[in-house]
Amino acid sequence: MSQDEREFEVVIWGASGFTGKLTAEYLLAEYGVSNGLRWAIGGRNPEKMEAVRRELAETTGVECASLPILTGDSDDMSSLVELARRTRVVCTTVGPYAKYGSNLVEACAQSGTAYCDLTGEVHWMQRMIEAHQDAAMASGARIVFNCGFDCIPSDIGAFFMQREMKRLHGVACSQIQLRVKGFSGGASGGTIASMLSMLEESESDPRVGRAMSEPYSLNPKAERTGPDSAEPLAPHYDSDFDQWTAPFVMAGINTKVVRRSNALLDYAYGKDFRYDEAMLMGTGIGGLTKAAATSAGSALMMGAMAVGPLRRAAAGRLPQPGEGPSRAKREAGYFDLRLRGVGPNGHVIHGRVNGDRDPGYGSTSKMLAESAVCLARDSLGLGGGIWTPASAMGEALLMRLPKAGVTFRLED
Ligand SMILES: NC(=O)c1ccc[n+]([C@@H]2O[C@H](COP(=O)([O-])OP(=O)(O)OC[C@H]3O[C@@H](n4cnc5c(N)ncnc54)[C@H](OP(=O)(O)O)[C@@H]3O)[C@@H](O)[C@H]2O)c1
Repeated sequence: MSQDEREFEVVIWGASGFTGKLTAEYLLAEYGVSNGLRWAIGGRNPEKMEAVRRELAETTGVECASLPILTGDSDDMSSLVELARRTRVVCTTVGPYAKYGSNLVEACAQSGTAYCDLTGEVHWMQRMIEAHQDAAMASGARIVFNCGFDCIPSDIGAFFMQREMKRLHGVACSQIQLRVKGFSGGASGGTIASMLSMLEESESDPRVGRAMSEPYSLNPKAERTGPDSAEPLAPHYDSDFDQWTAPFVMAGINTKVVRRSNALLDYAYGKDFRYDEAMLMGTGIGGLTKAAATSAGSALMMGAMAVGPLRRAAAGRLPQPGEGPSRAKREAGYFDLRLRGVGPNGHVIHGRVNGDRDPGYGSTSKMLAESAVCLARDSLGLGGGIWTPASAMGEALLMRLPKAGVTFRLED
């Protein structure tokens, strides 16, 4: 069956989870049930899904008794193939992805179905690229990981800066730096479970650690070298921003995705392109103290979490699957990212990426939903394969994201 004839344009798979429910809530509020977009929610437990549908009507005030529910299970391949064949796009929040996501990628790659998700599990993405790139290319399935806070602001931010440098000065940025000026939000049980499962796997499989630490680990196999080195762990004085910086916890994922985008865009940013991320901590002795404390705090936490018994003891005290930051916290949340792009002739441009909700859930759910609609509806001129947000949907997402409260702009 051709893509156009499929019953649904988008299925939100995992709509009973914390982020899945928010993604469905956004789609319902923005696109309704029968206002043109043909979409459905899916999960493994039919009764739970019916309760989700009632809850969606209550939270949005939009009647949705006719919103279709699809059921299946991540361990049941035939249910996933059936799901994939009924829709143009599967938008999945069923994670940890390394635990529950592999069969779905395979089902979509075989069925020519577009796919988007929220993974930040680099070792799993690497595994999926190796296993399913050829099938996706053959079937025309456009698979896009990382459609949440990691890595849309970074990946589309870098794409935006490149576009603006070319527009203003006719050249590509040879370097882009992203600095986190501020953000406010919390973590969900699903995110914590994904981090813990990655650490768990790294104990028995050294490839997990290598995928996380090698700067070009997501590039095509023969292209895993370049000018960038692994993310620094120590505080650093950044003379370009005139502030002390500390490591940014998402940088290990975001930087690799931006580098993969460059490779997939036929090195439109240049073979010598450099990219890095860090958090701004302020100036003077106050900035240095904050940068040192933040760097030490992250190193200590990662060190403790790498120790099995400590990790298992902490897991019981952290949010559990299905739990996450309250509505009030999500609505009061935000993110503010600063970008600096440098051209080969010394041209410098400054940009900003801002989000109007907490990064991990309020903004993430809106970015994911718009990515799914983009894959379903926009003319992307894109063949099958395993893409990044920028290489798959760069311009189209720059048009769509402001609606989702995420803006990209140049500063004077
Ligand atoms: N990139 C980002 O910025 C970002 C932001 C937020 C979240 N995330 C990621 O998104 C994922 C979800 O997070 P979350 O907090 O929303 O998790 P969650 O609340 O635990 O939700 C997980 C979902 O997976 C479903 N599920 C579990 N096992 C399944 C199976 N065998 N078959 C079908 N469905 C199954 C659950 O269904 P039941 O309800 O039936 O248990 C639930 O719907 C995590 O991997 C997290 O790291 C990433």
